[in-house]
Amino acid sequence: MNQTLTRERQQIHFFAYLVGTGIHLASWRHETAFPQASIDFEHQVKLARTAEGAKFDAIFLGDSLAIDETSNPGILNRFDPIGLVTALGAVTRNIGLIATSSTSYDEPFNFARAALTADHISGGRVGWNIVTTRDLTNSTAGNFSADEHFDHSLRYRRAEEFVEVTQGLWNSWDSDAFLYDKVNGRFFDRHKLRRLDYKGEFFKVAGPLNIGPSPQHSPLLAQAGTSVPGQQLGARFANALFASHPDIPQARQYRDSVRAQARAFGRNPDEIYVYQAISPIVADTRDEALERIRELDSLITDQQVLDFLQEYFAGQLDFTGLGADATVAQSGILTIAQPRTDFRSAGEQISGREDEVTLKDLYSILTGDKRNLDFIGTPQHVADSLERWHAEGAADGFNLMFSLLPQDLERFATGVIPLLQERGLARTEYAGTTLKSHLGLDPQPKGQP
Ligand SMILES: Cc1cc2nc3c(=O)[nH]c(=O)nc-3n(C[C@H](O)[C@H](O)[C@H](O)COP(=O)(O)O)c2cc1C
Repeated sequence: MNQTLTRERQQIHFFAYLVGTGIHLASWRHETAFPQASIDFEHQVKLARTAEGAKFDAIFLGDSLAIDETSNPGILNRFDPIGLVTALGAVTRNIGLIATSSTSYDEPFNFARAALTADHISGGRVGWNIVTTRDLTNSTAGNFSADEHFDHSLRYRRAEEFVEVTQGLWNSWDSDAFLYDKVNGRFFDRHKLRRLDYKGEFFKVAGPLNIGPSPQHSPLLAQAGTSVPGQQLGARFANALFASHPDIPQARQYRDSVRAQARAFGRNPDEIYVYQAISPIVADTRDEALERIRELDSLITDQQVLDFLQEYFAGQLDFTGLGADATVAQSGILTIAQPRTDFRSAGEQISGREDEVTLKDLYSILTGDKRNLDFIGTPQHVADSLERWHAEGAADGFNLMFSLLPQDLERFATGVIPLLQERGLARTEYAGTTLKSHLGLDPQPKGQP
């Protein structure tokens, strides 16, 4: 293992998941919230700079490609992630900038070009969160001249090819291909440019790409799929995996499993970082932190509960005619043959109590999964939990999905990060200028100068 990698693996890594006023559905109604956050560039700059001041690896932007009137307010009116990271790259210095982009509704050439452009503009700080697109509204295909969302296995076959083509295009040029030799009239070395000539089931792409390598060669790859093919995709290509597990044993099992899968692909598992998604709430006391959640929950309307569930179970159930006080048994949720992968834990929690648990309760359970009590309380408590999860092999880092922005991010940055820095568990300075350097990774693909 190289020395940088060793040092980076001893510390806890952080992404700040930025969406609107926070992931809490009612966060935009909070008295401190700025409801226009998703469409206000200066606000986004401020958030990115706060994460940069706390020396996080990156900010992380999720994405979807369709909305309807029930969508979370934070995604109804927001910037395109690649456009946003391109702009943020110009006004920040060190923070990584990870944008989600779908392999189901784009052409690899267009994507490879736009992402590498953003990577250049930022000086090598962009990451790509590879998703096959979660079709929450059941209407995504309609935005792309198609009748239906691809089925799961097809999505992942396409994703594999999409990533192969994108990486192939990013490898069009060797890092030292451009000579700019005015005296001898050689702009580039012809031997260091290659065509791709890819022919697969979905894509036929000739290449080469009309932009060369960035300071980190090409964007870092991140991935968030949790199904078997999702894990395989991540284990084969990604350096950052984004997962969501409720406790240390389950998180550790997942991490062990993806590391083993990476090894089977001939990769060094220490080049893969698993970021667990958590929603930390930091306050002077645990009671105060819990009160802050109750305050946000009190702002949720019954209609939002039903809309949330309608979207969560997109296309599988119809909640029309039910109230938020209807029980899970009445709703028919348990009759769904193939529930979402991430419903498993909620399903276990309500099992046997279907006649008592209301839809409002279910909403709290589903969102509460991200509100692990390990991460709610004093800075000391949260820092101890992070240290424990990390030490016990449950996570290399955390994707911080704050309930209320910017408040929760600021409290975490000023309360928890200094404690971890004192313990040597969080960086006090960036060691390098690229996102890959924040993970101690070699920027060059194998076999290149
Ligand atoms: C914490 C987390 C965040 C995710 N964020 C996004 C996202 O922003 N956009 C998206 O289309 N899918 C997102 N996904 C969904 C995954 O891409 C994936 O579709 C989902 O986890 C189901 O897994 P599967 O596709 O492997 O079945 C996310 C998944 C997880 C676990």
